[in-house]
Amino acid sequence: MKNELIERLTGVFHETFGGAPVHLVRAPGRVNLLGEHVDYNDGFVLPAAIDRATYIAFSPTGTDLSTLVAVDFNQRASFSPQTIPSKTQADGSPLPEWAHYPAGVMWSLNENQLETRGMNAVFASNVPRGSGLSSSASVEMAFMLAWQTLSDWMLPSMQRALLGQKAENQYVGVNCGIMDQFASACGVENKLLLLDCRSLDWKTIPLPEDVAIVIADTTIRRKLTSGEYNKRRAACEEAVRLLKQDLPNIRSLRDVSVEEFNRFADKLPEEVSKRARHVVEEIERSNQAEALLEAGNIQHFGELMNQCHASLRDFYEVSSPELNVMASVAQSLDGCYGARLTGAGFGGCTVNLVAHEQAETFSELLAKGYQSETGYQPEIYITRASSGAELLT
Ligand code: GLA
Repeated sequence: MKNELIERLTGVFHETFGGAPVHLVRAPGRVNLLGEHVDYNDGFVLPAAIDRATYIAFSPTGTDLSTLVAVDFNQRASFSPQTIPSKTQADGSPLPEWAHYPAGVMWSLNENQLETRGMNAVFASNVPRGSGLSSSASVEMAFMLAWQTLSDWMLPSMQRALLGQKAENQYVGVNCGIMDQFASACGVENKLLLLDCRSLDWKTIPLPEDVAIVIADTTIRRKLTSGEYNKRRAACEEAVRLLKQDLPNIRSLRDVSVEEFNRFADKLPEEVSKRARHVVEEIERSNQAEALLEAGNIQHFGELMNQCHASLRDFYEVSSPELNVMASVAQSLDGCYGARLTGAGFGGCTVNLVAHEQAETFSELLAKGYQSETGYQPEIYITRASSGAELLT
């Protein structure tokens, strides 16, 4: 699949710009095992970069104009540092929606006094869009690396992640946390990544050899996510503001223990209280992840994943009927330690931790169960934790 994609990009590059591309980069999507909707509350997350990615084949132009062909949309856009503040192309027409991600990266780099030399580029991704696997972060991290390759600056991967998050927050307009760009930039083969979203300290945790990560795509795509996502984030901020009356030293929900939260929860409006309860309890769950994985207690870790799903469904209210079916069918199957929706929610995928030798049978039974309850045909695959954004040539 990967090689086919690269061949396709090279072919389109040749047809569009002539010749062969000088460089090729890839940046992966991610799956998150625990710590959902806590990154923007200073909590802990446990993602892994996956073996699906965005690829860009590109060459320098010697000007400051970048022309991109999005193979997945069969469209092209040209822009430069002069045109991007107004979200327009070199000919004055508006940037198409998909171009906001690469243009946002250019904008964010330029805002930080980092130059973005022009490129002719062809790109495509096999991270399904809107599926909770961070296709947009993978596009951002791929372009970040492409512009780094053409320029004479070089940033540590966490720095590239932060500038990608800035692009998404301030240019695209989604108030996301750091998890997705971090995982795409910093991924490590066969490892889970444990990130403290307050200090940005992170470490890798080996994935036990006898478990597989299975991704189950409901194939139902989320709608209107950014509005709902930003509302969830605002509710968390509101909770902090109100809880400060009793807990003046808190900076974010990370600073509130479950016990303290229970003491003051009824002072919050009902909806704010539900949102904050998810976050406070999820931070407590993700706090246990490292010890459980190191002790090889996958059983208990999986239970925390199941609790996380219930909490996202009932308190954070970001699940969907299809995600609930996918998670509950999985949880009833042999070999499944834990199953839950992954990413922002509202549609997309679940992540499942499954005994390795049962992963194939599990995937078949899950597909059948989901299809018979919903009528939709899912896409289910065993994924591998992969390395982060990299230059391939
Ligand atoms: C999206 C955001 C992340 C994170 C997740 C939920 O993927 O981009 O920053 O908040 O949702 O955990």
